[in-house]
Order: sequence, then structure tokens, then C-alpha cells
Amino acid sequence: MRSTVLILAALCLEGIAARPQTDLSKSTPPIPRAESRPKANTYQNHAEAALDRLQQWYNHDTGLWKSYDPSWWQSANALTTLLDMVQAGSPKAGVIASVVIPNTFQAAGAFNARSKHGLKRAAATKDDHQNPFSNGFYDDMGWWAVAWMRAYDVTGNRTYLDTAEALFADMTTGWGTSCWPEGMWWDKQHTHIDPIADTLFLETATHLANRVQADQKKPYVDWAVRAWDGLRKGPMYVSSADEHYVTAADGVDPKTCQLKKDPHGYTYSNGALVSGLVALSNATGDRDYLQEAHNIAHTVMKIMVSKDGILIEPGIDQAHPGESAPQFKGVFMRALAGLHAADPRAEYHEFAQRCADSIWDKNRQGEEKGGGYGNTGAGGVELGPDWNGPFHGPTNARPQSSAMDGLVAAWAMTRQMEKMGETGNGNW
Ligand SMILES: *[C@@H]1O[C@H](CO)[C@@H](O)[C@H](O)[C@H]1NC(C)=O
Ligand SMILES: *[C@@H]1O[C@H](CO)[C@@H](O)[C@H](O)[C@H]1NC(C)=O
Repeated sequence: MRSTVLILAALCLEGIAARPQTDLSKSTPPIPRAESRPKANTYQNHAEAALDRLQQWYNHDTGLWKSYDPSWWQSANALTTLLDMVQAGSPKAGVIASVVIPNTFQAAGAFNARSKHGLKRAAATKDDHQNPFSNGFYDDMGWWAVAWMRAYDVTGNRTYLDTAEALFADMTTGWGTSCWPEGMWWDKQHTHIDPIADTLFLETATHLANRVQADQKKPYVDWAVRAWDGLRKGPMYVSSADEHYVTAADGVDPKTCQLKKDPHGYTYSNGALVSGLVALSNATGDRDYLQEAHNIAHTVMKIMVSKDGILIEPGIDQAHPGESAPQFKGVFMRALAGLHAADPRAEYHEFAQRCADSIWDKNRQGEEKGGGYGNTGAGGVELGPDWNGPFHGPTNARPQSSAMDGLVAAWAMTRQMEKMGETGNGNW
């Protein structure tokens, strides 16, 4: 185990000391005093209760969590949720992860080869099976790379970092589209261009840059800088006086190079970009990247929320979000927690608590009863797709793990502020 707590604490102190005064922090509304707000262990308890139910959807034979067939990239996100809980200090998640990490590595990799899922849309290149988690979708490989880097963080086992490096090498084959040379295809058959492929490429590159040996770092930083430059100069990124965000939710038509459908953004492509820019700032020491991550987070918290200020998925039926979208919001909350760890702001902590409280109070099925949970048919605490509530079932591993990301973000930020309070460096 690495001492993530110490690293986190060190980052907080550094973040506070170096934090410039900005307009964003001036616009932060006053927050209630700490005593009147939930404690970190409240969110930990909630996340651990939801984890019990998440694991009922885990299929030991495939190493994947049930959502819809084959739950491939969604399972990478469920694994990341679990590993974030380990990093945040959940003993329960640690016990589960000690079984799930090696099992998913073996079983999901075997499933990928056996099911030929990996060959889907793989026509464009020959090297589709560089490793068991490669397939024809560049974003799918990014989700698994991010998950295996978390596995490396919590175990120190290099096999997982090597896997992420091999996935990234495969992802570089998607660079250079028919519309612009500096950007990613979404799939190996070159049918679609989508910002999630670019933002995950950037996130994967920067997380690798922060984990490989010093003499291996530069190519990853260079890729990340190119990916960011290509994205921000193209039509998939909006940068105006007061809004900065990834748009092009429906992607770009590779023939016309026009955005498909109404332009709006999704929370997850913005989340992947925020994570990437925070890590790029860390990798380079350049705080401009961190400032842009703040700008994006600020915009998402303004334009991708309900009237009650709860995160929503734009352009989607919140109660019945279809196959992919239920997974998205958690990706943004995970990124916001990373941004807060690097450079805390009261508005992020307040937002995370507001979302987590709404998830628990209004978007849950299953009661806490005397040390145990569960009055549902399946048993356990179930969380639905609409964080504003009410709960809409039937649910599955997608909305469950995504909502858990919301709980874990509130937990991590609250704990961070509690620790800063203890050491006298917090502002509350
Ligand atoms: C590292 O992980 C791989 C894959 O799960 C496993 O086979 C190997 O035994 C692990 N190594 C150690 C030292 O635990
Ligand atoms: C920042 O980078 C250093 C080394 O490059 C790494 O040790 C540390 O874990 C990174 N922090 C984060 C939050 O990625």
C-alpha cells in the first residue's frame, strides 16, 4: 500500500500555500459551519453500504459487473470506484479489492478474448491484442488504463502499470483523424470522432507520466500537451469569456467535420479532461493547466445542474438515461475530487456534499436498519440514475457505481477538510 493519505495531505498544504486569489473563489457562496454538516464517515458508511449491493452484481466468471451486455467499459469504471474507496481508506473495499483486482485482471481479460468483443470494430489495425484489454474502441481502452493505474496505485504491482502502458500504446494508433491531424478517432474502423476519446487519451497519458520512471515520462507529457492543444483549438471545446467546457456530446461526423445534433456537453468527457489537466499540471508544474481545470469544473457546475444545483446529464432523460449515460456523472465527481485534492475550494466541497446528500436522501431504495441494510427484493441499498430523485428502478451496476462516485467524492473532500482543520491549516 502506498501512503496516499500523506501524499494527499502534502498536496493540500501545497495547494493552499500557492493558491492564487481568483474571481471563482470570490463567487463562492457562504457555506454552513462545519459542525452542522455531515462528517466524512457518514459518506464512507453510505458508500460502503452501496458497495455491498454493487458486489452482488459482480460476476466472478467474467470479472465484470452486470449492467447490460457485455458491461465492458462500465466495469472498468466500477473497478475504479472500488479502488477509489480503497485509496480513501475503506477496509471493507480493501478486502473486496484484494479478490476483485486479480480476478478481474484474469477473468475479464479472458472474457475479452473469448467473446471476440475485442475484435469489434478492430478492422483498421493489426495489433488489436497487444494486451487482453485492447479492443476496437479507443475510449474503452482509456477506461481500462485508468482502472489499472488505480490498481497499481493501491497494490504497487507493476503488471497493472504495464497493462496501462500497453493500452496507451494501442491508443496512439487512433491519432490523426480525417478532420484534423491532432486528434483521436473514437474507433479503429474510423466511423466516428468523439471528444471522450481525446479527453481519455489525455487523462491516460498524464496519469502515466506521473507513474513511470523519470526517464520514461517525457513522451507521455508530450502526448498530453498535443492532445490538449488539438482539442482546445478544435470545435469540440468551447472557450468563451465565462464558459469553458467540452461540447460535441454526439461527436463529429468524420465526412462533414460538423458537430452532430445539438451541441451540448456530457459530464464524463469534461470529467476526463479535468482529471487530465490536474495531472498535467502536476506533471509539468504549470499551473495554467490547473486553472483551466477550475474553469471547466466551474462551468459544469453552472450549466449541467438541476434547478436544485444537483449534477444532471444534459440532453438525457434523467430517469431513463439509456445504456451509457448512467455511468457519466460519477466520472465528473471523481475528477472534481482530484481537483479538490490538488487545490481545494469550498464550492467543490459544498457541491459534492449537496449531490451526495441528494443521492442518499432522494435517489435510494433500501433502508438502513440496525447495522444492516436492505428491504428490497434483491437486498441492499440501490442507487438510481437521477441524483435529484425520485429513485427509478430497476437499477444495476452502472447507476450504482456512478452514484457511489458521488458519495466517495463527498467523503474524500470532507475528510480532506477535516484533516486540514486538525492541522490548523484549514479555513474551517
Ligand atoms: C501482480 O499481478 C498479477 C496479475 O494479477 C499477478 O499474476 C501477480 O502474481 C502479481 N504479483 C505480485 C507480486 O503480487
Ligand atoms: C504528481 O506527480 C508526482 C511525480 O511526478 C507523483 O509522485 C504524484 O503522485 C503526482 N500526484 C498526483 C495527484 O497524481
